[in-house]
Amino acid sequence: MNETIASLLARRSVRHYKPNQVSDELLDTVLNAGQYAASGMNSQNTVLVAVRDPKTRELLSKMNADVMGSSSDPFYGAPCVIVVLANTLRGTWVEDGSLVIGNLMTAAHAVGLGSCWIHRAREMFDSVEGKELLKKWGLPETLRGVGNCILGYPDEIPSDKPRLEGRIVKID
Ligand SMILES: Cc1cc2nc3c(=O)[nH]c(=O)nc-3n(C[C@H](O)[C@H](O)[C@H](O)COP(=O)(O)O)c2cc1C
Repeated sequence: MNETIASLLARRSVRHYKPNQVSDELLDTVLNAGQYAASGMNSQNTVLVAVRDPKTRELLSKMNADVMGSSSDPFYGAPCVIVVLANTLRGTWVEDGSLVIGNLMTAAHAVGLGSCWIHRAREMFDSVEGKELLKKWGLPETLRGVGNCILGYPDEIPSDKPRLEGRIVKID
């Protein structure tokens, strides 16, 4: 089977990770694949913030958990988180950011990393704490969160998830 198709079919959300940090080389490969996602009118209006610093990772985890009123780690112990933000002046900001995350997850799988989309980035970065983080990172406070993509070396092989029937309609 074609390798790209194989990656698309085999990728699964990973929720158990080894503690070792993602290497520079693999992280850069995944980030580069993310920034090559298509965007409405080639606006490229998304920003990918890759966090490996343990303190910042903990802060993001807590901010995400707080949105749910939970105290557990929503990042499942993954050592790296890529926050995908977008400039909302573009009408396609949600679609642009989502496609970036799709690329990140497929690329991660292709290079042997595990990943999972973690929701609630919008609430995280609409908050006062989130705006302060953006400022600290030298980013415009007008950016909004689309999603978080956790990354790490997988410590599980998730089982295949059969596709629901009737989702493909062909009009010949
Ligand atoms: C928009 C979106 C939000 C998601 N948010 C979460 C989340 O907050 N936590 C989580 O564990 N998984 C999250 N997921 C992962 C889905 O649960 C997962 O993709 C789905 O169960 C299908 O499994 P698969 O990715 O292994 O095919 C999210 C996925 C998407 C597309």
